Amino acid sequence: MPNDQSRPVRLLGLSGSLRKGSHCTAVLETLREKLAGKAELTILPLNDVPLYDQDIDTDQPPAGVAALRQAIRDADGLVVISPEYNYGMSGVLKNALDWASRPYGKSALPGKPALIMSASPAFTGGVRAQYQVRETLAATGCRVVARPQIVIPAVHEKIKDGRLTDEATLTFALAGVDDLLKEVRLVGSL
Ligand SMILES: Cc1cc2nc3c(=O)[nH]c(=O)nc-3n(C[C@H](O)[C@H](O)[C@H](O)COP(=O)(O)O)c2cc1C
Repeated sequence: MPNDQSRPVRLLGLSGSLRKGSHCTAVLETLREKLAGKAELTILPLNDVPLYDQDIDTDQPPAGVAALRQAIRDADGLVVISPEYNYGMSGVLKNALDWASRPYGKSALPGKPALIMSASPAFTGGVRAQYQVRETLAATGCRVVARPQIVIPAVHEKIKDGRLTDEATLTFALAGVDDLLKEVRLVGSL
């Protein structure tokens, strides 16, 4: 974004979990509501992104991939949240970021501000997954927001009826989004 202050900042939320009752997606849904009037957070489910296959990564990519790439192009910044699977980021998220990083030299990711979060029922909060997300986003050329990590441990105790209800966690996550918005403004002014 935008030098154009006449429109709200557009953020794209990507959750590394596909399941309906996902804690990660619930965090994004809560942020979307809390940010109303400040920024538009659109959540793009990754269910329609197939497994990466270079044979089908052509000028006519699968519809789910085209939608993902367009959504990234349209966004001023990204909010990316991953669960932790076997000490790593979810394959769903890695796969989506791999698709988004292509075609080489034409991806919308380079220079795109991105805020990372992770959540897990464990006391480690997906911190190992988060490290991998950071590495992958760095490889794509995203501007990963440099700030204290947003790691959400015991997430199952902090979500009620599909919303993040733990005030301290919510305040910290919203402060992260504020930092993302600062980065978005910085990029827009460059
Ligand atoms: C295959 C698999 C592996 C997992 N491995 C870990 C792990 O290494 N560390 C961890 O903290 N949680 C692990 N979990 C628990 C997930 O972090 C937990 O199910 C989380 O809530 C999933 O995110 P979601 O609620 O957004 O779907 C694992 C879950 C699955 C299904």
